[in-house]
Amino acid sequence: MKRGTADTREGEMKPFREAHARIRERTPLEPRVAVVLGTGLGGLGESIEIEEAIPYTDIPHFSDSTVETHAGRLLFGHLDEVPVVAMEGRVHRYEGYSLQEVVFPIRVMRLLGAKVLVVSGACGGMDARMKAGDLVLLDDQINLMGDSPLVGPNLDEFGPRFPDMSEPFDGELRELAFQAALERGIRLHPGVYAAVVGPALETRAEYRMLRRMGADVVGMSIVPEVLAARHMEMRVLGMTVVTNVCLPDALEPADVAEILRTARNAEPRLTALIRDVVKEL
Ligand code: HPA
Repeated sequence: MKRGTADTREGEMKPFREAHARIRERTPLEPRVAVVLGTGLGGLGESIEIEEAIPYTDIPHFSDSTVETHAGRLLFGHLDEVPVVAMEGRVHRYEGYSLQEVVFPIRVMRLLGAKVLVVSGACGGMDARMKAGDLVLLDDQINLMGDSPLVGPNLDEFGPRFPDMSEPFDGELRELAFQAALERGIRLHPGVYAAVVGPALETRAEYRMLRRMGADVVGMSIVPEVLAARHMEMRVLGMTVVTNVCLPDALEPADVAEILRTARNAEPRLTALIRDVVKEL
């Protein structure tokens, strides 16, 4: 069959509709905000008044995380009265999933009603002013994954073939986050996030290159999710925790246990800021 006929388009939407239908058998909740809880940042989930928690393995076409630090459940409930859906754990390109698989849940959360996406994650900080544990409010991104979740036949129902990326992260949401940080006395750096495939951390030469390219922080997620969200015209807030400082001329060997500890330490601050922003939505 030729691409682009009504039948093929319906076929391409089918997995999303099946996942959506299964979730709807479990909960009628219409989320306003979708949240992705990244590495070590699952604690925000504890602030949600959970009404339903669905393991990814119960949802058709959802991929289950192979990383121990990611739990693999979709949480439905209220965060300070605002209806939300939260991904407790995400899947990554480095686990072997395609970027289309990585963003599948983002698309389903949009179908469920969410028009705002909050993404969080761990990152390496390349700006000398950043300390381990600092929070970064993303204001732009660089896709260095050599791929895009938007490759393939365009899903017209979700968005246009050539989505605009002039403002990946929403200016108004950023303003709210800065305001909240100021009021709480929490240090919040603005920053450009570069996404790499991983799973190896970067060499000195790579950190140096990323810095010269214009990135302030580097990580292995976020960018595909933001691309899918912007394709669907969701407003996006991105916040990351600097889990390791990556200055090429003073690079220390990375300690993954330490990275996770640092992310967990930052969790209360990240949670507070996200709650402050979500409350305004
Ligand atoms: N590089 C890539 N991803 C990361 C890093 C890093 O240094 N730290 C946490 N996630």
